[in-house]
This record gives sequence, C-alpha cells and structure tokens, in this order.
Amino acid sequence: MLIQEFISKEISAEVNEVSFSWESPSNIALVKYWGKNLDQTPKNPSISFTLSDCKTTTSVLFKKIKNTSKIIDFELFFEGERNISFRTKIEKFFSTIVAYCPFLLNYHLTISSSNSFPHSSGIASSASAMSALSLCIMSLEKELTLIDDEFFYKKASFISRIGSGSACRSIYGGINFWGTHSDFSFGSDLYSTQISKSISSKFHNYRDAILIIDEGKKEVSSSVGHELMNDNPFSQIRFKLAKNNISKLMKILESGNLNEFCNLVESEALMLHSLMMSSTPSYVLMKPATLSVINLIREFRKDSNIPVCFTLDAGANVHILFPENFSQEVINFIKKKLSVFCVKQKYILDFIGTGPKQI
Ligand code: DP6
Repeated sequence: MLIQEFISKEISAEVNEVSFSWESPSNIALVKYWGKNLDQTPKNPSISFTLSDCKTTTSVLFKKIKNTSKIIDFELFFEGERNISFRTKIEKFFSTIVAYCPFLLNYHLTISSSNSFPHSSGIASSASAMSALSLCIMSLEKELTLIDDEFFYKKASFISRIGSGSACRSIYGGINFWGTHSDFSFGSDLYSTQISKSISSKFHNYRDAILIIDEGKKEVSSSVGHELMNDNPFSQIRFKLAKNNISKLMKILESGNLNEFCNLVESEALMLHSLMMSSTPSYVLMKPATLSVINLIREFRKDSNIPVCFTLDAGANVHILFPENFSQEVINFIKKKLSVFCVKQKYILDFIGTGPKQI
C-alpha cells in the first residue's frame, strides 16, 4: 500500500543536469531495533545517538535521459571504484522508492560514495550510506517540486528507512526516535523524529569510542538477523521489553541519571546478542575480545566511579559511551587497557553530532 503523503508532487521546474553531495553520519542505537515487518517497519521502537565523524559522503550526478522502462538507471562507485557488490541492495531500494520519486526515471544517476570508516566493520555503514543517498535524491526533488524543509527531511527519513531501517535515524542530529509508542504522540514507524524535549545537559557532546575488534564482513547480516526474530521464542517478550526500555530511557535522558543510563544501555546491547544466540539457527557475533573489553569496562566503572558503559551493534565491535568531561580518563583507559584487543590497536573517537550536511 502506497503512503500518499510521500508521493512526489507535480514537477514545476526543468532540470537537465545537476549534482548534489551530502555527508551523513552513522548512528548508534541505545534501545535497539531488532525484528521488522515485510514493509520495512520495525517490530519495536528504538532510540539512537546520531554520530559525527563516522560518516558516508555521497555525490549523485543526475543527467536527464529518455527512459521508457520502469527501472531507475544508475551506476555506482564506492571509494573511487566501480562497485558491483552494493548494486543489488541499491536496485532493491530503487524498485520500492520509484513509486514515491517517479521523477528518478527521467535521469541517469552516477552515484559516488565513500566512508570515513572501514566498511562492514560493524559500524552501521548502511545507515550512513542510505541516508546520504536519500538526501541527494531529496535535493533533486526539492529542485523539481515545491517542498519545504520539514517535508524534505521527513521524506528523506522515510525513503532512508526503505533502504535500511536504522538509516531513518541518521537524518537528524542529536537523539532520535523511530517507531510508535504511547509516550510519543508524534512517533511513526515510517520515519524517525528528533527528540527535542528537555534532555539533560549531561548528554550534550556525549562521546562514543568505537573499538575495532573485528574488521571482517559480518557472518550473518542484519537483514537475516531481523528475519530470524520472526521465529525467535523470546520475540514477543523482547518487543514488550523494548517498549518499556523506551519509557525508562526517556526518563533517564531527562533526569541525567548516568548510572541508570549505563545499566539500561548495556542490558539492551546484551539482550540484542542474546536474541542472536537464541535464534534458529543460532549465531554469535561477539568475539572473545568483545567479552574481555566488556568485563574491563565494567571493572573500570566500578573502580573509578566514572559512568562509562558499552553498547554493541550487530557485530563484534564495542561502542564505549561516556560524558565529555571524563574524556581524558576514559581515553587513557582505552589506550592502556583496551587498545590491545583492537585490530592494529584501532579505535575511533566520535561524539553525538549535529546530523547530515550538504556539501
Ligand atoms: C543492531 O538497519 O542494519 O544496528 O533494516 O535490514 O537494513 P535493515 O537493518 P539495520 O539493523 C540495525 C540493527 C542494529 C540496531 C539498531 O541500529 O537499532
């Protein structure tokens, strides 16, 4: 079923050739999206921090053509080289969004993309990649039709979600909510919304240090992981717990209780991985080093009283979240005790960012 609101309006301008470039960041979920419906809507709501330096830069050159087929004509370059491996994902994305952006059929698209971080390293590259591409498409829509900024970003989030669920949360900076929940009158399963209500200043400039524990391609993709939730014996209880955790997290974000924040965020990360372990077939994405790091972070928190905690995506890498004012202590701890567990001692120091930028 098509969502009428997002079908592009009548074309009111003639554009023969134009190029747009956007930088869009990755995001890290605090309450995780895990399990989805066939229409790419989530089984439970999620909340994330938008990152800053972990980002994808995408440029799209749109050239007018006479296309009589119903397929969007494009070529793809990744890190400067023609790319085939992402083509299927983009073809699938285009086959759905063409109903919302039919003007794309009149153009040949040359898409050039690069990441600031290693691809498939467990950093959500699909989130930054799909949001950057969606923003370029929306820039063309804005050139061709009359839309305001609010709709521009809302539809960018809407089409990003079709490309990759978590991508819809990368369209805005700060803290983002995606899904429906009784605590949020504005929430939607179709796009995400920035949480602008009173967030404690303790979360301003919050840091995320990403330890690269494993650079290899994930053994089980997120798409397969989501699908396995359909038959997971714990899925219903998980969806209920995720909703409860959204309510709890909102209170924590307002109160600034960082001890409660650490407990909730870590429990969400471990629950995500326990769902992978209890799927059929079961699988484990954590590595021995992931567990060593987790234990050391908990020990450090106990000994230092610094509210530092970990979270995990669908991969082995560890995201370490901490308030900016403890940066020196935490970065020293990472250098001395944790970097030995990282591939070539690699870690990325990032923080909550302000969202995508047109360049
Ligand atoms: C564990 O958004 O990558 O990172 O919708 O199939 O593209 P698709 O999945 P994806 O799933 C991300 C899952 C997660 C948790 C989260 O980001 O909320």
